[in-house]
Amino acid sequence: MPPRRVLIAGNWKMNGLRSALGEIEAIAAGYDDALKARADLLVCPPATLLIPAGERLAGSGVLLGGQNCHPSPGGAHTGGISAEMLQDAGACAVIVGHSERRTNLSESDAVVMAKVKAAWCRGLLPLVCVGETAEERDAGAAVEVVTRQVRQSVPDGCTAANMVIAYEPVWAIGTGRTPTPEDVAQIHGTIRRILKERFGAEADGMRILYGGSVKPDNAAVLLAVPDVDGALVGGASLKASDFLAIARATP
Ligand code: PGA
Repeated sequence: MPPRRVLIAGNWKMNGLRSALGEIEAIAAGYDDALKARADLLVCPPATLLIPAGERLAGSGVLLGGQNCHPSPGGAHTGGISAEMLQDAGACAVIVGHSERRTNLSESDAVVMAKVKAAWCRGLLPLVCVGETAEERDAGAAVEVVTRQVRQSVPDGCTAANMVIAYEPVWAIGTGRTPTPEDVAQIHGTIRRILKERFGAEADGMRILYGGSVKPDNAAVLLAVPDVDGALVGGASLKASDFLAIARATP
């Protein structure tokens, strides 16, 4: 199994108008040969910007992704976006099961698993998000919660090439708080073990990202933790200079 290539993914969430496309251009321009040698970059803008963002990224090597897809291939789902639509708009990846959707929109592990399968049907790389709430961590249940989410959200058939997991403790998202490197190592090690139990040697090549308040000033420490193969970046991905600085912090 070749060594895992670092993936730095930006999740713009419900932020970004056409006036923000200059940031996408700056990310493309900043993805120079030195950075290409160190990390893959993926930007997930809101769906309304996918096509113009893809035009700005063309030829740069920076990847384009969606933030969500519907489990169904198409049909009567007002407001839904199918994996095929993402693919048609130029995306090669999609975030699924983000905690903001699990919590605010009651997305269950079963729904997340169905979305992964829908993404696979169109050749998209799913980034499956898992992570405990503050209450769950305080109750000593972080490992148990993440174990359940990985077991129940990740379908059979995973390979190093078709699955990325993102560990995002809910209490660290958008708060400026991060877990200790030891806590991150414990959860990432747990996720790796679960993947190995199910997928054997393929699990050695699967990337496990850390997400939650990753910034230029803490990225080097978080990215150096064993079994951390990149970052899922929210707020700091909206500014090209911060996003690129995080990518340059790759060890
Ligand atoms: P944050 O968000 O970097 O703003 O904490 C991370 C995420 O939710 O993916």
